[in-house]
Amino acid sequence: AAPSPPPDFKTCSKTTITNGPEVPYSCCPPPLPKDTSTIPYYKLPPMNKLRIRSPAHLVDEEYIAKYNLAISQMKDLDKTDPLNPLGFKQQANIHCAYCNDAYAIDGKVLQVHNSWLFFPFHRWYLYFYERILGKLIDDPTFALPYWNWDNPKGMRLPPMFDREGTSLYDERCNPQVRNRTVMDLGTFGDKVDTTELLLQTNNLILMYRQMVTNAPCPLLFFGARYVLGTNIEAPGTIEKIPHIPVHIWTGTVPELNAPEGKPKYGEDMGNFYSAGLDPVFYCHHGNVDRMWNEWKTLGGKRKDLTQPEWLNSEFFFYDENKNPYLVKIGDCLDTKKMGYDYASSPTPWRKFKP
Ligand code: C2O
Repeated sequence: AAPSPPPDFKTCSKTTITNGPEVPYSCCPPPLPKDTSTIPYYKLPPMNKLRIRSPAHLVDEEYIAKYNLAISQMKDLDKTDPLNPLGFKQQANIHCAYCNDAYAIDGKVLQVHNSWLFFPFHRWYLYFYERILGKLIDDPTFALPYWNWDNPKGMRLPPMFDREGTSLYDERCNPQVRNRTVMDLGTFGDKVDTTELLLQTNNLILMYRQMVTNAPCPLLFFGARYVLGTNIEAPGTIEKIPHIPVHIWTGTVPELNAPEGKPKYGEDMGNFYSAGLDPVFYCHHGNVDRMWNEWKTLGGKRKDLTQPEWLNSEFFFYDENKNPYLVKIGDCLDTKKMGYDYASSPTPWRKFKP
């Protein structure tokens, strides 16, 4: 198999809501230079200080204020400059374009989920998102928070996303996530009746299973090799659980008969096309990304893939200066080289061998 090439921008077209009709707006990036073959490869810039991503449940008010300001600046761009690639909606549309079949290459559509493209695509996505936020508030050390759902203390919606009227608040969120409800990392929608303590314990057992027992080698952790245009769904262990359940838990319950203007397809977090419209998406993916680093510390064959077709697969993003770039998976394997790291947080699941 050949590496997955960057999207063919000339073919960016209409997209479809998962389990629904066409997306009522375009998810394609703003107009690019005519000759897209001139888009350069991205070089990791030199940095003086690592950006440190912290657990979302532990950050202080000062940080929350900064984060709110950055997101509201991003949202303002939607109004003043809708084609600005740094705008909040444009950023959310990246997810829509890559995941709802907007791009075709040789007639085959590109989809970054359910395969080994999942971890690296989202790593690069957050990398640029974070730098854009930092640029908007003029703080080059700004780092995203991470939703620490693998730790009992973080198994709830981080409180900063539960403050109505702030830029981090998403109206289109499932009411069940409000008021400090503990989540079940393993369910795909059904409500469970159990105590908080039992839920948390079950979550830890599940984390052990997905990180250790079921992921002893790279392909099981990252997901199956990606062949452009195939629909074989073979996600890695963490992508499948808890990544998807957290999305579904946070999004609204699909309601096909919902009145006009109300969410029907699990918006925002529960559908690919809209997930990036909930600020908590990037916080959720911070922890998914952190799990990649954690997994590599678990020993045995738990190391990055080495296949050239993975290392040479490419994506496209705008950087914080609105310049378009191509990036390669091979350049995103070491977060410190990318200029960021995770503040450590206890990983009690390591002791939850069933
Ligand atoms: Cu691109 Cu959490 O999905």
